[in-house]
Amino acid sequence: MAKGKNVSVYFCQNCGYESSKWMGQCPGCREWNTMVEELVDRKAVGKTKSAAQELEAAKPAALSQIQYEHQERMHTGYGELDRVLGGGVVPGSLVLVGGDPGIGKSTLLLQVCQKLSQDMDVLYISGEESPQQIKMRAERIGSFSDRLTLLCETNLDLVSKVIEREHPSVVMIDSIQTMYKEDVSSAPGSVSQVREATGVLLRIAKEKGIAVFIVGHVTKEGVVAGPRVLEHMVDTVLYFEGDRHAVYRILRGVKNRFGSTNEIGVFEMCESGLAEVLNPSQVMLNGRPEEASGSVVACSMEGTRPMLMEIQALVCQSNFGMPRRTSAGADLNRVNLLMAVLEKRAGLSMSNCDAYVNIAGGIRMNEPAIDLGIVLALFSSLKDKPVGAKTICFGEVGLSGEVRAVSMPQQRVAEAAKLGFEVCILPAVCLELVKEAQGIKLVGVANVREAIGAVLRGC
Ligand code: TYD
Ligand code: MG
Repeated sequence: MAKGKNVSVYFCQNCGYESSKWMGQCPGCREWNTMVEELVDRKAVGKTKSAAQELEAAKPAALSQIQYEHQERMHTGYGELDRVLGGGVVPGSLVLVGGDPGIGKSTLLLQVCQKLSQDMDVLYISGEESPQQIKMRAERIGSFSDRLTLLCETNLDLVSKVIEREHPSVVMIDSIQTMYKEDVSSAPGSVSQVREATGVLLRIAKEKGIAVFIVGHVTKEGVVAGPRVLEHMVDTVLYFEGDRHAVYRILRGVKNRFGSTNEIGVFEMCESGLAEVLNPSQVMLNGRPEEASGSVVACSMEGTRPMLMEIQALVCQSNFGMPRRTSAGADLNRVNLLMAVLEKRAGLSMSNCDAYVNIAGGIRMNEPAIDLGIVLALFSSLKDKPVGAKTICFGEVGLSGEVRAVSMPQQRVAEAAKLGFEVCILPAVCLELVKEAQGIKLVGVANVREAIGAVLRGC
């Protein structure tokens, strides 16, 4: 490979796989037609030190010799965000906030700027909007301190010089797809630009101890380099999900070097920006129909927080040879599996029925603990037998129809009791783990037949 020359490299726009020749299918992620040619200047890829200097710097140290300074986390003023971050922003960390365009990433970061700039210097760098546009958005949100400064710039070399000169405590980059490095010849938003730009920001964050938030857009088609290729570079990855047309937005931690990854934060898009939703269970259950068949309340643990939600199922006679099965919010394969379990282990015939499963509120849930909820919702709709309005359930369902134990049953029962539920159907093996259950009746079930029996008895 000729040094200092632009060489053609093919990058997968979906996962960042690098190859010297074009391929129809990416070997990394098995996506088709995602390899795009980019010119890379091999010489430019960051060599600033000589080999001898590098070897000098690379000295192993004993663990006991390593100095560790306890750093205070910065609180963003939003408990929901702090929890997802693992208790606040760590100085010197690089946080990637991903999500579909229009979901509210810029709004969230601007609101975080508003809070943080009350006691520290914050620099907001936008490559997408003009200062006037940002000002318009800021006016909807409220008043801002003068310690927040704005810069509209896309040239990363300039941006990094400004950050070094101003030395703020926190920097927001909106978005990484608009930033470009001059010595990388491919277009902004391409995999090599995005990766190089993140590399520069990573160095700034670590060397100067500045917390950097990066916004990254994800597109389904993989046209723009998705932030997926950056996930291994940054410390924390947060995804903002939810339907753009629905009011609720879920901020989910996907990777976190400074905390647990299962946490979620729930926000609501209002007239004046994003507002925290402090009791999501209550909100998710709003407007739930009473005494309707096919509606069941289930409980899923999102990190350390139990969340109740309504699972709806509609099972009806199919008019076609091939019954339709769809699922919104729950995994369709899981729904198919649970229907097969119901057929085989509980003797319910659904082979000629269409089945639709939906988790109300546009939220997506993957925890197996909602299995029992899906099973009971399907049963309830098939037999037109409503489940009690004050009943909740949780439990994982196995292929033999057994209801298996799930984690933290005590917390789930406590949340249900707090919201006024009176009956809880749970795995029999979890019964002894639930120490106290005030005002709520516990019904332990060992398999799906027993769970259905409990519903037939009026639970
Ligand atoms: P935005 O933060 O621009 O999304 P992103 O940066 O992820 O592309 O927010 C987009 C949506 O939020 C936009 O459709 C308008 C809406 N919005 C409100 O409803 N209320 C508000 O106060 C603000 C600032 C935005
Ligand atoms: Mg934006």
